[in-house]
Amino acid sequence: MSVEPHPPAAVVPAVVPAAEPAPRLGEPLPAELLDAGERMDGPELRAHQLTCLRATLRHAYEQVELYRRKFDAAGVGPQDCRSLADLARFPFTTKADLRDSYPFGMFAVPMDQVRRLHASSGTTGRPTVVGYTEQDLDMWADVVARSIRAAGGRPGHKVHISYGYGLFTGGLGAHYGAERAGCTVIPASGGMTARQVQIIQDFRPEIIMVTPSYMLTLLDEFERQGIDPRSTSLRVGIFGAEPWTEAMRREIEERCDLHAVDIYGLSEVIGPGVASECVETKDGLHIWEDQFYPEIVDPLTDAVMAQGEPGELVFTSLTKQALPVIRYRTRDLSRLLPGTARPAFRRMEKITGRCDDMIILRGVNVFPSQIEEIVLRTAGVAPHFQIRLTRRGRMDHLALDVEARPGTGPDRRAAAAAEIVKGVKDGVGVTVEVAVVDPETIERSVGKIQRVRDLRAQAG
Ligand code: DLL
Repeated sequence: MSVEPHPPAAVVPAVVPAAEPAPRLGEPLPAELLDAGERMDGPELRAHQLTCLRATLRHAYEQVELYRRKFDAAGVGPQDCRSLADLARFPFTTKADLRDSYPFGMFAVPMDQVRRLHASSGTTGRPTVVGYTEQDLDMWADVVARSIRAAGGRPGHKVHISYGYGLFTGGLGAHYGAERAGCTVIPASGGMTARQVQIIQDFRPEIIMVTPSYMLTLLDEFERQGIDPRSTSLRVGIFGAEPWTEAMRREIEERCDLHAVDIYGLSEVIGPGVASECVETKDGLHIWEDQFYPEIVDPLTDAVMAQGEPGELVFTSLTKQALPVIRYRTRDLSRLLPGTARPAFRRMEKITGRCDDMIILRGVNVFPSQIEEIVLRTAGVAPHFQIRLTRRGRMDHLALDVEARPGTGPDRRAAAAAEIVKGVKDGVGVTVEVAVVDPETIERSVGKIQRVRDLRAQAG
């Protein structure tokens, strides 16, 4: 395998000192706990990126037929990458490429070197399969451990993991990262909400890793059992796998008295731990750029955008062996910003939506995040919703299902529906039909609700 080994990230010794108790949570990471990748300054990081990028392009070209065909068709080869800016000359990779080469066609190492497989469920058709060598798994554990430390986690903390275990990357990705960070893992996985509450009460974890929407379900369950969530041991929540807004952060932090930080990732790039927020700033996610090189492109013209401009996030892996990805189109919308708490790494703004989620309704652009803001300020409903786009006659029609909070009666439900209709009309400028449905009735896949369903093709 010809890609560069990832730099030894772990500065945390194999036998770690005893627990730092909870009061230190929320403080910046002491400099001595920064790992080797985080200690690079800007010029060192750029030099490392270029070396790794060239090796990755070569590895992909030599080992994966699809990359060879695409590079040849675009008239570029690995030798043409002399600066980081040269990456823009290379073709993009999409989810369709992975689907078309299902299951292992884009793997760049022999199968006997692949130690683990994961797959993303996908809403249609075949899933996307991803593979990891031992070195890939090691690097993944390092970046998740780094994310946990950035969130305030320290050796000896207990981490309750409610991301689903299995083919989804959330559970196992968080699991090995938390172990690498020297924490005690509680591998709760998803579901059995009442039991999760019991375990949190009994085991007293300081940290929880879970989707933000399932965190709200857990908070409801605490309250249903007569327990004030503010009285629990939880001090930090590391939330990701789905979009969530600043309003949702405020709600969770207020209801549970913890620091809510954002973690981002996707299976094709590695899983959780591509980027993560630092607890002391909570100002967007630092991208772990020593491993994943980011670009923002215009989703329509494919042009590379300048720092600060909004567009689609694109990632190139820098050290991955089993499944190198070159300019992978995430479909996620964000912006790149300069680093703060980790000055050498750029930040990405909290994801504002997905390219495929933007609805254009009679000329008005509608994003699910706008709907979420309105739902969040409406009493009696939870921010668990689904937008359905259908056709009535020749007109596009927007319908919104929103789950009621437990215990919300029919009068409040009707009032909430009316408030949301008005909020969307006034705030977004479109007409929507709202149904407030029972809690937990909108279908979820690995805890995630598909925000937008476009059913126009099925409509008569
Ligand atoms: O969701 C990996 C993950 C697990 C990330 C646990 C964070 C925590 P996939 O199932 O492949 O992987 O889904 C990736 O989820 O392209 C985004 O659209 C969305 N997503 C993930 N994290 C965030 C986040 C995992 N923090 C897709 N904010 C991505 C917004 C997110 N969207």
